[in-house]
Amino acid sequence: MNILNIIEKKRDKKILTKEEIEYFVKGYTNGEVADYQAAALIMAIFLNGMTDQETTDLTLAMANSGDILDLSTLGGIIVDKHSTGGVGDKVSLILLPIISSLGVKVAKMSGRGLGFTGGTIDKLESIPGYKTEISEKEFMQNVKEIGISIISQTKNLAPADKKIYALRDTISCVESIPLIASSIMSKKIASGAQKIVLDVTVGKGAFMNNISDARKLANTMIDIGKLANRETICVLTDMDEPLGYNVGNLLEVIEVVKFLKGEMPEDVKQVVLTLGSYMIKLAGKGDNLEENQNKMLENIKNGKALEKFKQLVEKQGGKKSSIDNIENMPMARFIEPIYSLKSGYISKINALEVGKIACELGAGRVKKEDNIDFQAGIILNKKVSDYIEKGQVLAYIYTNKSEAIENAKSQYLNNVEIQNEKIENNKTILEIIK
Ligand code: URA
Repeated sequence: MNILNIIEKKRDKKILTKEEIEYFVKGYTNGEVADYQAAALIMAIFLNGMTDQETTDLTLAMANSGDILDLSTLGGIIVDKHSTGGVGDKVSLILLPIISSLGVKVAKMSGRGLGFTGGTIDKLESIPGYKTEISEKEFMQNVKEIGISIISQTKNLAPADKKIYALRDTISCVESIPLIASSIMSKKIASGAQKIVLDVTVGKGAFMNNISDARKLANTMIDIGKLANRETICVLTDMDEPLGYNVGNLLEVIEVVKFLKGEMPEDVKQVVLTLGSYMIKLAGKGDNLEENQNKMLENIKNGKALEKFKQLVEKQGGKKSSIDNIENMPMARFIEPIYSLKSGYISKINALEVGKIACELGAGRVKKEDNIDFQAGIILNKKVSDYIEKGQVLAYIYTNKSEAIENAKSQYLNNVEIQNEKIENNKTILEIIK
């Protein structure tokens, strides 16, 4: 077998065999296939697509490129959750402690942000002392002891995905259904999930910009799940405007803590309760979705969910007191309001552009090796469908880079639309596909 023939086949819109896909994945992971050859093949896949069989073969080859975690010693059914990415998406950090406080075991490996989307691991690292890179043994021990652990993906978990994902990001090949589906499902399979709930985001701040592509992506992942014997449910959620009010690592953790104390923005609440109710169901802890949602709300009200979050932080090296005092943590040096230039109802806040502005303020990586400024980001003061008077605050910029402020302000104003008629806020939960 030869990589040139494989590239040529995909370039000419032919179907690759399982052996050819495995040859590429193995060769690229161990360095025998060069970056430029992998880039050519990935671009050919991006342009010409893959059959369902090819996508499944790619997923399994990537899952098998490293360790496959065995979570069976934890007991119970381990349900994993993954989002296809978004802006202000702090759902994992809210949802996982809540369901853990209800007795659903959480053993979660998360990723970092790249490009305009944030990542759970960067958010957790904004909590002083929180260690995201602990050994697999300690990870399992923490789940056994307190029912939850959230860590960074270990080095040898789906290493092929790590390489291919980083490559895709540098050659503009992220928004491809077979490539996203195989990337996500390979990680889920390798990290030992028995059942999977996926948040498939749709809109400006998501990789799928319209509902029909999101449906295709969801169905592809569900089919892979079936073949791999991992029941998978997809919740399609709106990502046209940022989720919640806070965008940026520490700012999002502050919103997480507020949520767990009962201050729940409606869009975040809908996503958390919907995904959570399915996770509880798949874990075998309650068949009635409405009851599951009520149980989640109850554990927010009685403080058990917040207590679980604090336990998680303490177990992984942080201090409970840092969560109690999260709003008193040192903030960015510059906190600048953005004033509205006109009065009316907000009809659009472009999540993609808000994500990019947050990156420029220091909240995200422009390049993979960039450092993140945990304090940087944006707090929205108004969301879509809210009324605003000219001169009122639309949002606040948080940054330590004074030189980035003026550009951020004008970019934000360019990406908010205001009109005379009130628009009904769109639904956040668009569809559920099983
Ligand atoms: N999230 C992933 O893990 N992989 C993708 O390709 C896109 C989003």
